[in-house]
Amino acid sequence: MKPKKRVLSGMRPTGPLHLGNLLGALSNWVRMQEEYDCFFFIADWHALTSDYEKPDSIKGYIREMMIDWLSVGLTPEKSTLFVQSDIKETAELSLLLSMITPVPWLERNPTYKDQIAQLANKDLSTFGFLGYPVLQAADIIMYKANGVPVGVDQVPHVEITREIARRFNYLYTNVFPEPDAILTETPKILGLDRRKMSKSYNNAIYLSDSPDAISEKVGQMITDPQRARRSDPGDPDVCNVFSFHKLYTDPQTVTEIDAQCRSAEIGCVECKKIMARNLVEALAPIREKRAFYVDRPDLVEQIISEGGHRARQVAELTMKEVRAAIKI
Ligand code: TRP
Ligand code: SF4
Repeated sequence: MKPKKRVLSGMRPTGPLHLGNLLGALSNWVRMQEEYDCFFFIADWHALTSDYEKPDSIKGYIREMMIDWLSVGLTPEKSTLFVQSDIKETAELSLLLSMITPVPWLERNPTYKDQIAQLANKDLSTFGFLGYPVLQAADIIMYKANGVPVGVDQVPHVEITREIARRFNYLYTNVFPEPDAILTETPKILGLDRRKMSKSYNNAIYLSDSPDAISEKVGQMITDPQRARRSDPGDPDVCNVFSFHKLYTDPQTVTEIDAQCRSAEIGCVECKKIMARNLVEALAPIREKRAFYVDRPDLVEQIISEGGHRARQVAELTMKEVRAAIKI
């Protein structure tokens, strides 16, 4: 049997996870567990690059994020789940990689420029923020990952990682494989206000939302903007509620709703009620598992610490090779 390919990815613990995260990254990761040797970690140092002024919330988000991960089906039985800052070797590797990384590679990183512009309220003119991709490269090559499942915004970072790995191998000796980005499809659903679902837009449905909260949020969702009155026919193709139906409602009912919307036989209030009910039901297993782990903080801590132990074993081996290559 061929050894499984290794994939690795990380998420910054900046808040609770929502349906967009589930349908995008997370469900993909859960599937990958069956096929790959998976490493998934919570990137708390990366969260610190932009939230260094108020680090207090990061700690709580780490636990919450691990609970979210476990509730959707990531499991320590199939994957190595850990917290970035538990592996101090990563800081050492990042430092060493910083010696060989030309600053212009970092300055021309499109994600960097984009973030500085978007987060204009934060002072991101720090060394650490510029060096974000170096730390990310250390995360990835430490485990000699072959694939990195990410969204398009992260592709430049994987590209810089490849360049850094290549440069290391060229300058010293061949230690690191060059990882490929594995593009995660972006979800077909939008937030309550029809913008991209995002914590910062305050338009998200969270995995931790109660059934009542979900129903209320669905009630607020913007539907077909052209459908002003109940008697107006609607267009499901432009309606975000309908996109949710396609994911959570049985196909027969979806077909009926499609027709009834176009003929104004069904109103948006009723249509949303059906969707909310199905969504609440679909998320029930996640909600139950979540409650299980929320009640067992010690178990969550244990999973985090065992994941860290496993990751560190790999990291220690890599660092032996790295130190030998650099002769320090
Ligand atoms: N930068 C990634 C993000 O913002 C998180 C991350 C940190 C990551 N290290 C990584 C992703 C390594 C993949 C591999 O989402
Ligand atoms: Fe959207 Fe349903 Fe209203 Fe049609 S009836 S516009 S699908 S919410």
